[in-house]
Amino acid sequence: MPELVETGIEGLDSILNGGIVKNAAVLISGNPGTGKSILGMQYLYNGVKDHGDGGIYLTFEESQADIEEAALSIGFEQWPEFVENGDIKVYDKRTLLRDGDFSGTLDRILDDLQSTDYDRLVLDSLTMFQLFFEDEKEQRHYLLKFIDILKDSGLTSLLTTEQSAIFPETEIGLENFLTDGNIYLVQSPAGSTSNRYVWVAKMRKQSIKNSMFPMEITQGGLKIYEQAAGFSMVGESAPFFGGGEQPER
Ligand SMILES: Nc1ncnc2c1ncn2[C@@H]1O[C@H](COP(=O)(O)OP(=O)(O)O)[C@@H](O)[C@H]1O
Ligand SMILES: [Mg+2]
Repeated sequence: MPELVETGIEGLDSILNGGIVKNAAVLISGNPGTGKSILGMQYLYNGVKDHGDGGIYLTFEESQADIEEAALSIGFEQWPEFVENGDIKVYDKRTLLRDGDFSGTLDRILDDLQSTDYDRLVLDSLTMFQLFFEDEKEQRHYLLKFIDILKDSGLTSLLTTEQSAIFPETEIGLENFLTDGNIYLVQSPAGSTSNRYVWVAKMRKQSIKNSMFPMEITQGGLKIYEQAAGFSMVGESAPFFGGGEQPER
C-alpha cells in the first residue's frame, strides 16, 4: 500500500479511498468559480491543523492580504496564524513577479523546493504559471522541471488548471501527461441556482470512485456528498457542464 496524504476535505478522501498518494502531483481542473482555490487552501489548512504538515502556496492572487481575506471569509480562521508562524508559506503574485523576471524568481523557488521540509504544495494556477513564458520551449522546460522537482522533493502537490470537464476534450495539454491524477470541479446551471460536482477522472496507483458526486461550498470550505448515488460520466444522465454548446454524445 502506498502512503496516502489525507486532504481532510469531507467526502473527498473517501472517494479517493483514503487520500492522495504521497509525492503525487494532481491537477485540480475546472472553470472559474468552481472552487479550485478554496480546495487548494483547504488542503493546506487541514494539513497543518490535522497533521502538522507544512504547506507551500504559490498563487497569482495579488497579495498576502487578499489571500488572507479569502481564507477568513470561507472560515479558515487560523490561516493568518499559520502563515505568521511559517506553517504555511505563501508566494503571492507580488513575490513571484517582484523582479519582473519570472523565470529568475522561479529558479530560486525551485532551488528552495529541492531542500524543503514542507509536505504539501499548491500551485494556483498552473494556467497562469504557463502564461508567464513567452515561448513554448521555455514553457515546456519549466513545466517539466517544476513537476520533476515536486515529485522528487517529498511534496504532495495540487496544481489548479482552468480546463473544464467538457467532452470530448479538445486539446490535451502536456500537464495532463506529467501529473498523476486529475480531479474536476464542475458547476452546472440549475434554474436560478447551480449544482456543483466533483469527479475524480484519473489517479495513478489508486483505485478510486469514478463517478460524479455532488458538492457544496459553504462556511468551512468544500463538502462532498459521497454517500449520494454518484452517477457515471459514461451514462446518458450526465449533466451539462456549461461553457459553450452542449457537446454531442
Ligand atoms: N463563504 C462561502 N460560502 C459559500 N460559497 C462560497 C463562499 N466563499 C466562496 N464561495 C463560492 O466559491 C466560489 C469561488 O471559489 P474559488 O475557489 O475562488 O473558485 P476558482 O478558484 O475555481 O475560480 C465562488 O464563486 C462562490 O460561489
Ligand atoms: Mg481560483
